[in-house]
Amino acid sequence: MKGNVNFDESETIKNLARAFAGEVQDGARYQFLAQMAMQEGYNYFQSMCKTLAKNEMAHAKTLYQLITNNCTKSIKNIEICAGYPFKCGSILQEIKNSIENEQSEADSVYIEFAKIAEDEGFSEVGKVFREIASVENCHKMLLQQVYDKMKSNKLYKCTKETKWKCSNCGFEHTSKQAWSICPLCSMPQGYVEISIDTGA
Ligand SMILES: [Fe+2]
Ligand SMILES: [Fe+2]
Repeated sequence: MKGNVNFDESETIKNLARAFAGEVQDGARYQFLAQMAMQEGYNYFQSMCKTLAKNEMAHAKTLYQLITNNCTKSIKNIEICAGYPFKCGSILQEIKNSIENEQSEADSVYIEFAKIAEDEGFSEVGKVFREIASVENCHKMLLQQVYDKMKSNKLYKCTKETKWKCSNCGFEHTSKQAWSICPLCSMPQGYVEISIDTGA
């Protein structure tokens, strides 16, 4: 990859390493959150967290490969100075922490990394940072909806008639409130799919 500076000594390679470390941690955090969701009976939310974890690990892999495919020699060690959040709390607090983390990646960190990559002439890397930022923004919006519903105790309640679906057996029913036990497979309410407005 040709840029205005040597890739191996660029700020971009460091930012890729910073972002890689961050994405791996995000993947771990979503796996921790999935475990917490499972323990608290939010089975469907657990599967959402696992999908988020998978997305973050895919981002990590893309970033890792941008380093390994473009450095001119094998790099023993990339030294970085970076800070990462270490917060904990209730499941609601954890979701809030994740929202804040996604927001900072989407609105500032990756946009800044993209600009630096573009300044250094690595437009391909800049594009990847912008694409990841846009996914993190979707993660943020998804989690914000779950957070708002969970906080107001409306995960499975709605003011209008809503179609609820059991993620275990596929049973569907339209009403203002989801069942507490699925009439078809007897799984608890935590298996009911959380309806997310994708804005599509
Ligand atoms: Fe990510
Ligand atoms: Fe994310």
